[in-house]
Amino acid sequence: GKMVGVLTAGGDTPGLNAALRGLGKAALGEYGMHLIGFQDGFRGLMQNRMVRLDEHALSGILTIGGTILGTSRDKPHKMPVGGKLVDMTDEIVAVYQSHHLDYLVCLGGGGTQKSALRLKNKGLNVVTLPKTIDNDVAGTDTTFGFDTALSIATEAIDRLHSTAHSHHRIIVVEIMGHNAGWLALGAGLAGGADVILVPEIPYDVEKIAEAILQRSRGGKRFSIVAVSEGALSVEDAQVKGALLKQLEKGDKADRKKAEEDLAQFELAHVGNTMRLSAKLEELTALESRVTILGYLQRGGAPSAADRLLATKLGTSAACFIHEGKAGVMASVRGEKVIPVPLEEVAGQRKLVPLDHVWLDSARKVGTCFGD
Ligand code: F6P
Repeated sequence: GKMVGVLTAGGDTPGLNAALRGLGKAALGEYGMHLIGFQDGFRGLMQNRMVRLDEHALSGILTIGGTILGTSRDKPHKMPVGGKLVDMTDEIVAVYQSHHLDYLVCLGGGGTQKSALRLKNKGLNVVTLPKTIDNDVAGTDTTFGFDTALSIATEAIDRLHSTAHSHHRIIVVEIMGHNAGWLALGAGLAGGADVILVPEIPYDVEKIAEAILQRSRGGKRFSIVAVSEGALSVEDAQVKGALLKQLEKGDKADRKKAEEDLAQFELAHVGNTMRLSAKLEELTALESRVTILGYLQRGGAPSAADRLLATKLGTSAACFIHEGKAGVMASVRGEKVIPVPLEEVAGQRKLVPLDHVWLDSARKVGTCFGD
């Protein structure tokens, strides 16, 4: 049977264990393969920290949050070693060969797809699964973890309603999603937030204040503002847009400078949600409070939908390996799972398109986007 290695990389996501179980049970039982796991993503692979994934190890993990393998955000070509970022791709290739692996399966988000492509280009047979609560992986309809996070954020908005209502307050709730607005938009729409701010639509704080005041004049003395962690004002979005362009188009020196400036920019924008709340309080003379949902959105058991999705993706990956497909991501297209070349996925970010039906619906129910 084929020798398969598996790892989980990037931020943890509900459904990772369900995916490992689906992959593993199909690989061992259905296809007669051998499976080993590597701990803590690409770091553990480089350090050859392996665990046996037999029937016993895969049992009882379907409903458990996080990942039994552990994870890290370390990348093969930028591995922190002795205080520096070092390219350890060749070391990783050597570990793959030392185990006589026929395949490496990487469960991860956008960053992991890029790392996987790098390893593919070094001659490894790689298959990936798309996981992230941000739903921003290109080439797939959706990612596992998103549905669970969406439910958690929606329930939070539901709960914030009664306290905002009782105190006649604005509550600004910060929702994860990196640079994509899927989670804030989905939860904001499902939870009936009055204002939804997403990275795809730069906002004007005056317009948000006006919308809140208008509600207030209509007798609604509270407002819920769902803000994506990556949302920016019109001015800030312009600055960031210019830096991103420089990062893509500039020469090597330009790119290095843009990378440093971007890091500075991100640092300066920690606390954005707090500042937005203070500004709204100032402009509306209404009391405003902040709730940052944070890691609650990633913790705990996966929803039924995520268990189904993760299991389907895991078993499909085993099938792709059996059929000899490599250099692909198992991707959701409607009801089907299809293999998509990593080249079409890596380095792309799937943002909310401005003509998306959720945006259209939200506008039609009167949601303010601050634009
Ligand atoms: O990608 C998932 C995510 O939770 C994002 O929504 C968030 O921006 C990021 O991870 C947080 O990263 P970390 O886990 O490294 O703090």
